Amino acid sequence: MLLKEIFKQTVDELSHADVFHGHGVEIAEDEVVLLLMSVLDVDFVELNEMTNTAINSPQQAKIQAVLQQRIQQKIPMAYLVGFSVFAGLKFKIDERALIPRSPFVELIDSGFMPWVDLSKPAKVMDLCTGSGCIGLAIAHYFSQCQVDLVDLSAAALELAKENTAQLELDSQCHVIQSDLFDSMAGQYDLIVTNPPYVAEEEYVALPQEYSHEPKMALVSRFQGMEIPVKILFQAPDYLSDDGYLFLEVGYNDQVLSEILPEVAFNWIDFTVGGQGICVFSRSDLLKYRESFKQFLEKHVA
Ligand SMILES: C[S@@+](CC[C@H](N)C(=O)[O-])C[C@H]1O[C@@H](n2cnc3c(N)ncnc32)[C@H](O)[C@@H]1O
Repeated sequence: MLLKEIFKQTVDELSHADVFHGHGVEIAEDEVVLLLMSVLDVDFVELNEMTNTAINSPQQAKIQAVLQQRIQQKIPMAYLVGFSVFAGLKFKIDERALIPRSPFVELIDSGFMPWVDLSKPAKVMDLCTGSGCIGLAIAHYFSQCQVDLVDLSAAALELAKENTAQLELDSQCHVIQSDLFDSMAGQYDLIVTNPPYVAEEEYVALPQEYSHEPKMALVSRFQGMEIPVKILFQAPDYLSDDGYLFLEVGYNDQVLSEILPEVAFNWIDFTVGGQGICVFSRSDLLKYRESFKQFLEKHVA
């Protein structure tokens, strides 16, 4: 069979299967592209040039085997093929960390303008870094940045370190194990964070694909908001006077606004898709510090 025939047949089968797309790719076609790149060991450009290439029987069998794992075990495609593309970069991905899919990609694309100027030397912290995707993409595109990749999970940090080496960013990026800011010191010009923000009740109702991701990457107590509010409370101690915090809470943006009604949130508008990243200057975080403190005293032991 020719590649174009295999592509169509595989997309048909995946489209009619009871699977959830949304772990870095939104549609069956894109999942099949990842699958074919992996089995044929080619990049995207090479794959596009192979439309009329004959695919041999062992390769066809491999494609079918991975497809059946995807459909029957509901394992996200990125875990099956071992990689994911984020901000135009290829990351090694496995079940040690969440699959990259953050709208931070659009902020990286625009260089976090007008809030910070990453063309000048800057100290950046990617808190809750997982695979390292956000911090490593910042380091790749802004060579003046020094980036600390911070996570509580030793397993996720191993993967972040492997991605640092794969992207040849060892001179700019360092992994640090820390429970939020507990082991951190110094001041950062930019803190970016995509922390866990899913409530336990929401987590149990998620499609089966999510059960393959580390639970600690997703779930946070008190309507998902315990970790995000802790970050809002602690961040000003780790920001320079002109520094900014960008915090992602995804579809729970309304929840965060509602539990802190006195806080004026500045939610970023995205053109390509995604939602739920707010931005705070250090001075605004200090202005609202008492509200964050009261929330934590009331709801967090
Ligand atoms: C939603 S994932 C984000 C991963 C990555 N930044 C991304 O966007 O793909 C959240 C990450 O927070 C980490 N995490 C959970 N609790 C933490 C804590 N108390 N301190 C530091 N990191 C934590 C998890 O291990 C996980 O890697």
